[in-house]
Amino acid sequence: MKYDFAYFQKSADYVRSMIDFTPEIGIILGTGCGPLAEEVENPVVIPYGDIPNFLVSTNPDHAGKLILGTLAGKKVVCMSGRFHYYEGYDFEQLTVPIRLFKLLGVQKTIVTNAAGAVNTSYAPGDVVILKDHINFMGVAPTRGHNVEEFGPRFFDVSDMYTKALRDIAHECAARTSLKVHEGVYMYMCGPQFETAAEIRAIRVLGGDCVGMSTVPEALTAAQCGMPLLGISLMTNMATGVTTEKLGGAEVNETAASVELPFKEYIKDILVHM
Ligand code: HPA
Repeated sequence: MKYDFAYFQKSADYVRSMIDFTPEIGIILGTGCGPLAEEVENPVVIPYGDIPNFLVSTNPDHAGKLILGTLAGKKVVCMSGRFHYYEGYDFEQLTVPIRLFKLLGVQKTIVTNAAGAVNTSYAPGDVVILKDHINFMGVAPTRGHNVEEFGPRFFDVSDMYTKALRDIAHECAARTSLKVHEGVYMYMCGPQFETAAEIRAIRVLGGDCVGMSTVPEALTAAQCGMPLLGISLMTNMATGVTTEKLGGAEVNETAASVELPFKEYIKDILVHM
């Protein structure tokens, strides 16, 4: 049994041996959100490659380091660089980050991502507090052998994007210059951006934004009872909303243009979590 409890424990044992505190909040930083990691105080930095049974980022825009320390007064474990299905991992492997957080004693997790805006009332640079997702990819990270220590095979997802944490994110929205919405995230496997027809379909189905991450982590968190806050940064209007062609550079440019207020917004949320 490859992905049994001992498999995950091995990663956690190693990370625990490098720190002398228990991180309270886990943070997964998505595309363009990485600079927040540089603000962690007294950081213990662990390259993913050093952690047994962990994964390595293949995306050059993702740093690939676990950073543990203090941010906004909270003890955090921060993943600078995440793993995506499009990189070629098995879906089961995408459980690894959240299960590591769980074993380290993390109580709550923030997941950030870059996403395309499907809702035409959104604009690039806006932020969306995720209230739910649509996963029509036919995939689940918890498929296969169920690791009972992380929760039951069949689990509830009605508060996956935890209401109490969304409420905090809304309160903090009053103190940022960013425009903050609440919406539904549509998960697509990528790595290609969506077709214009797919975006029209996503809109009809109730998706407000679209991206290639977060859902594997959100499902893993729901199974192990980890409260989760999902924050999407709209880096572009989705395909066909404008005539603009999409590429990784545009995504990074928008993220860079709101880097400062975005970091401040996430830190404000952390203070109040
Ligand atoms: N689609 C999917 N993923 C994304 C997008 C998009 O338009 N923008 C940033 N990540």
